[in-house]
Amino acid sequence: MKTNKFNKLAMVSGVTGQDGSYMCDLLLSKGYDVIGLHRRNSTNNFQRISHILDNTNFKLEECDITDSSNVNSIISKYQPDEFYNLAAQSHVGTSFKQPSLTFEIDTIGVINILESIKNYSNTTKFYQASTSEMFGKNFKIGDDGLPYQDENTEFIPQSPYGVAKLASHRMVQIYRGAYGLFACSGILFNHESPRRGENFVTRKITKYIGQVVNHLTNDSLKLGNLSAHRDWGHAQDYVRAMWLMLQSDVPDDYVVASEDTWSVFDFLRMAFEYAGLDYTKHVEIDENLYRPAEVEYLRGKTTKAQNQLDWHPEISFEDMVKDMVDSDIETLSHV
Ligand code: NAP
Ligand code: GDD
Repeated sequence: MKTNKFNKLAMVSGVTGQDGSYMCDLLLSKGYDVIGLHRRNSTNNFQRISHILDNTNFKLEECDITDSSNVNSIISKYQPDEFYNLAAQSHVGTSFKQPSLTFEIDTIGVINILESIKNYSNTTKFYQASTSEMFGKNFKIGDDGLPYQDENTEFIPQSPYGVAKLASHRMVQIYRGAYGLFACSGILFNHESPRRGENFVTRKITKYIGQVVNHLTNDSLKLGNLSAHRDWGHAQDYVRAMWLMLQSDVPDDYVVASEDTWSVFDFLRMAFEYAGLDYTKHVEIDENLYRPAEVEYLRGKTTKAQNQLDWHPEISFEDMVKDMVDSDIETLSHV
């Protein structure tokens, strides 16, 4: 890593994940020095950041955000200009099976970072990855008669993940109000990409398509609830919104979404049709994949982000589906 004092220094937790990897790409393209935080694993999982590991402006540090002494030593050592907290147990289904771990990472981990910034680096600007999952089953009805959620919609979470994220969302507001930290939360709706984790429904579908097209499987694709609606955007558009939040004059919370909604079934049908496959020949419903409680409908309204951050998504839903299908077909053709 260069020690050019004129570069801004950003710290990104969750660097091995989808958003962490795109965030590093964006920051490096803007001339930042970037420190990526990853937790120790028995094997390396740097696939999403392999292309930046040799970049002289990028450095990896080991940090598990549930360990406050680890967080304190990293933050006090580097005192970054900006900290993007993209680390989480991010799978809603898993949070029903591992509620304590989810709370430990998604709430206590965030408190560890906020405390550390307050005590050792209080000019660091902080971004927290909040989520539309916090709205749970709540929505408002717009002038067009359609349901939507915005920054003023009450949160009624339906999962341990949603509750843990809501607790940390409130903590960010507390540290902003009580201690004057420049701390923002992005209430991000679902965002996907070829780098999406393979156990989220979109990637599970496109990876399966890649396997079928390349004659790598004869198994059926087992899915749960196909009727849930999600507001899906592309992760590359969404990390730009995170960055814009920390460039603004005043810290605040913003909804980031596409303003449209599709069912899981819509995604399934479009992805299969694009690949020239008949989904009826491949898909099986598995009741075990239904969640104990479900968020049925998400559609975000982004008037605040558009007006105050001048943020507008550039990649359409259709192009996102194609990007994911093309990528999985291409990647699996080399297996
Ligand atoms: P992801 O792909 O699951 O990445 C999560 C990252 O967190 C991984 O790098 C993971 O490391 C790391 N992590 C987990 N526990 C950790 C710990 N104890 N200490 C340090 N790092 C830890 O998630 P994503 O899709 O990029 O999402 C990024 C953030 O946005 C998450 O907070 C998520 O909850 C939130 N969010 C995502 C969406 C979405 O649609 N993608 C929407 C709203 C909010 P390993 O690789 O070692 O597991
Ligand atoms: N994962 C998964 N696997 N979901 C399935 C499946 C399956 O086999 N079959 C149906 N679904 C349904 C889920 O029940 C849910 O209604 C929908 O597909 C989307 O599930 P996920 O892709 O797992 O995403 P999510 O909406 O639960 O959570 C994602 O978005 C949140 C923002 O709204 C994650 O990225 C969270 O981290 C994020 O906060």
